[in-house]
Amino acid sequence: MPTVTSPEQLFEHELQDIYYAEKTLTKVLPKLASEASDAELSRAFTSHQKETEKHVRNLEQIFTKIGKRPEATPCPGIDGIKKEHDEFVEDTMTSAKMLDAFLTGAASRAEHYEIAAYTGLVTQARALGEREVVPLLQENLKQEKDALKKVETISKRLLKDASNGSKRSSRSSSTRARSASTSRR
Ligand SMILES: [Fe+2]
Ligand SMILES: [Fe+2]
Repeated sequence: MPTVTSPEQLFEHELQDIYYAEKTLTKVLPKLASEASDAELSRAFTSHQKETEKHVRNLEQIFTKIGKRPEATPCPGIDGIKKEHDEFVEDTMTSAKMLDAFLTGAASRAEHYEIAAYTGLVTQARALGEREVVPLLQENLKQEKDALKKVETISKRLLKDASNGSKRSSRSSSTRARSASTSRR
């Protein structure tokens, strides 16, 4: 059983947790890019995948700077977000458009998780006087925030397009219903 009784140990634990999460995301993001039908969404996943590779390297640098070996500890938080995605994709009858909209939500959940982790890590690093690791943590944090904004913008566009589309089709079907009842008279 690992021991965490000091702020230094807690900081190391939290680093190991996000290190696991980032490594997991480097494998998940290419899958999301191939599942997305929307070109902008797919590109967003691919470009965040490259950023995520850098997040992993930044974390490795941080471990080295604090004199620790990079080690990942399983993170059930990110595993859970991944599982929600996997189950939806495997078990749900959906359309390409609704899958895209779903993927933006799954991505937002992951970004919020990472943002919470890095915000906490920056606070911990400052409190511990580990000044030289703060810029590396902030670089990761900023890219997570930018990725979240991008995916939220795409999500708004997708949902607006989709609801306009469904309004149009329900209008045209009610027109059909009316004309059918007129012709019956
Ligand atoms: Fe990341
Ligand atoms: Fe991210």
